[in-house]
Amino acid sequence: MKHLIKAQQFTPEILQQLFSLADSYQEQPRKALQDKVVATLFYQPSSRTRLSFESAVHRLGGNVISTVNAREFSSVSKGETLEDTLQVISAYADAIVVRHDEEDVLEEATRYVSVPVINAGDGADQHPTQALLDAYTIQKEFGRLNNLHVAFVGDLYYGRTVRSLSYLLTKYPNNRFSLVSPEDLSMKEDILSYFEKKGVSFETRTFEEVLDADIIYMTRAQFINESESGWARVPLGYDFSLTPDILDRIPSSTRVLHPLPHNEEINLPKDIETTDPRIAYFRQVKNGLFARMAVLDYLINK
Ligand code: NCD
Repeated sequence: MKHLIKAQQFTPEILQQLFSLADSYQEQPRKALQDKVVATLFYQPSSRTRLSFESAVHRLGGNVISTVNAREFSSVSKGETLEDTLQVISAYADAIVVRHDEEDVLEEATRYVSVPVINAGDGADQHPTQALLDAYTIQKEFGRLNNLHVAFVGDLYYGRTVRSLSYLLTKYPNNRFSLVSPEDLSMKEDILSYFEKKGVSFETRTFEEVLDADIIYMTRAQFINESESGWARVPLGYDFSLTPDILDRIPSSTRVLHPLPHNEEINLPKDIETTDPRIAYFRQVKNGLFARMAVLDYLINK
């Protein structure tokens, strides 16, 4: 693996190595990126992904150079192609973390880039390091990545995290998926045919029907670009919202994950969100830092 563009690139063996690396930084900090420079190039808004990557670099003793709002502030505004931008940045940095607003551009654009490029989210397609940290969290919470009932809830059409995690969890035996979304935001055909091809069981369900899943993976409604009105989002509504009443009916062994940021689909008082052990998404955020340290170390120093 030179660049990390899609979650399909992870094998169970690579994941195991990354988890061990992530564990190791928690036990003993290490300056694995001493004298290295990592560039973060973000064409879309982000707080946790960019900051967690940057924090990961700093904690490993490396340095960060960064462009946010890259459409306005980078040479893209002067008409440069992504391919050229990445090639130029590769002269300054030992790895490039890029978030882009379009799908299917990174593979082609990274073909001639000599340093590792990490996809930090590309349009409505993928977010492989989110899937990595989701899997790391599941491994920590359940001690396994197989034999799990996973319910994906919310915007499964535009949400890229559920797509990446679907690819990743399909690599482990006996996982099954329940898909809960408004009809016009249902999981795209490519993922469904991938499930079919791999013989993985999946069903469309209502939220009420999946409360006993091992993992309830909540997602927000994405903003979509409706050319006339600009960026807009339609709230998912009560049927896709985790309220205290619903939480009361979720078993103690279930874990609620969310890539964050959350909107009204998580409708819980802050004290419950913070203290209830079933709510795992703040632990997920913490795990993300170590998972990103692992992936940077792995790609840059390998
Ligand atoms: C996710 C993303 O950007 O796709 N956020 C993140 O990276 N933690 C999910 C989202 O924005 O809804």
